[in-house]
Amino acid sequence: MAQFVCTNCGEGSAAWIGRCPACGEWNTFKEMREAGEQRSKTVQSFNTTAFSKIKALDKNRTPTGLFELDRVLGGGIVKGEVILLTGEPGVGKSTLLLQSLKNLNTLYISGEESAEQVKERADRLRIDFKSFLFSDTLQVEAIIKGTDELSAKPDVIVIDSVQTIYTKDVDAPPGSVSQLREASARLIRLSKESGIPMIIVGHVTKEGEVAGPKTLEHMVDAVLNFEGEKISNFRVLRAQKNRFGSTDEIGIFEMKGEGLSEVNNPLAFVDEDKELQVPGKALVGVMEGKRPLFFEIQTLASTSFLPMPRRVVKGVDYNKVLLLLAVIDKHLKLNLSKFDIYINVIGGVDVKSPAADLGIVASIISSVKNVPLGSSTVFTGEVGLLGEVRKIYGQERIISEAKRLKFNTPLSSLTVRTVKELFQKII
Ligand code: TYD
Ligand code: MG
Repeated sequence: MAQFVCTNCGEGSAAWIGRCPACGEWNTFKEMREAGEQRSKTVQSFNTTAFSKIKALDKNRTPTGLFELDRVLGGGIVKGEVILLTGEPGVGKSTLLLQSLKNLNTLYISGEESAEQVKERADRLRIDFKSFLFSDTLQVEAIIKGTDELSAKPDVIVIDSVQTIYTKDVDAPPGSVSQLREASARLIRLSKESGIPMIIVGHVTKEGEVAGPKTLEHMVDAVLNFEGEKISNFRVLRAQKNRFGSTDEIGIFEMKGEGLSEVNNPLAFVDEDKELQVPGKALVGVMEGKRPLFFEIQTLASTSFLPMPRRVVKGVDYNKVLLLLAVIDKHLKLNLSKFDIYINVIGGVDVKSPAADLGIVASIISSVKNVPLGSSTVFTGEVGLLGEVRKIYGQERIISEAKRLKFNTPLSSLTVRTVKELFQKII
């Protein structure tokens, strides 16, 4: 059966449509026959295997050269694992790969940069590769055949990037959804059949996140997203999906002149001048995976002249902020409709943990009341709809880490039970 697929976003349809209902582009629907289609027309035999006869996966992990990457993967790369590494162009994906693969026999397939450019960068990063084979062959069929003919099997194959790879059997240009799907399906088969792990780079842009690599997420074993702001040097590596490990560890890096360096300092994201006391600034402690980290939340509440006051939020969830504003309004009787409110997390990172709630509330109160919070006060706790402060996962760890770092004992569910008590403590 023919199927029509939008070459821009991957939306499917049984009939041709002029304008894609998902992304709104015109004339993007192309007829696609499932190239990998191998459906049998006759009744097949029914195969079963007893559970006791199924062999467990060989989960021997090969550590890479970067501990932070291994942490996110769950200890290293598993045999035959296919990892999709996504991120905006320029965030540092190629740099991350060059630095992490220095101890492995790497086959590096690059459609983004020439051999000379890769060499120049590796030299600048002072990477001394164990063994590094470069190829700029971008046709999947040639890559499969070439890999098979290599005298020494590589430890890992890198595809940088999937948007430049194509299969001869699909007419669409490289980077189009039909090419991405079919070329990746064949690459993944190569990895699974040979047992050689593969890291596939996929660019995503803020606007176009639906397009391209998103359509590959279900095909691969792990999806790692490399995030960070161009203006900030910090980069966070997060697993969105991980078949062979957990998804709650993050890796933290700092981009420097000599490449990415791993960040262990729990205070990396806190402004150097942590003694500075200004209204609207609150330090929060949250668990990211197994380790406590501290972030600085800033709120600016300024008099509003708008019928609908502004709420501008960066780094924390927008809807969560609206909820916390409603809690403050209801339980503290603070009239927030007179204020435009801007909230930001220092360092250009996202803080997803609910443990930041209490600190967000404190920073809003502090800015609205124009009263600074104590310079070494840390907040940790989730805030519920009833204005109650709830204990969060890893609270003891955060409190002991805060003590070690010479902060005051954090305000948490142990010390303040409601936002009302919080208000009385800080104002
Ligand atoms: P790159 O790895 O090429 O990004 P991607 O593969 O995700 O497109 O990194 C590009 C940026 O990183 C570039 O703008 C310069 C910066 N950079 C440094 O600041 N220091 C370094 O040592 C390197 C190699 C890159
Ligand atoms: Mg690159």
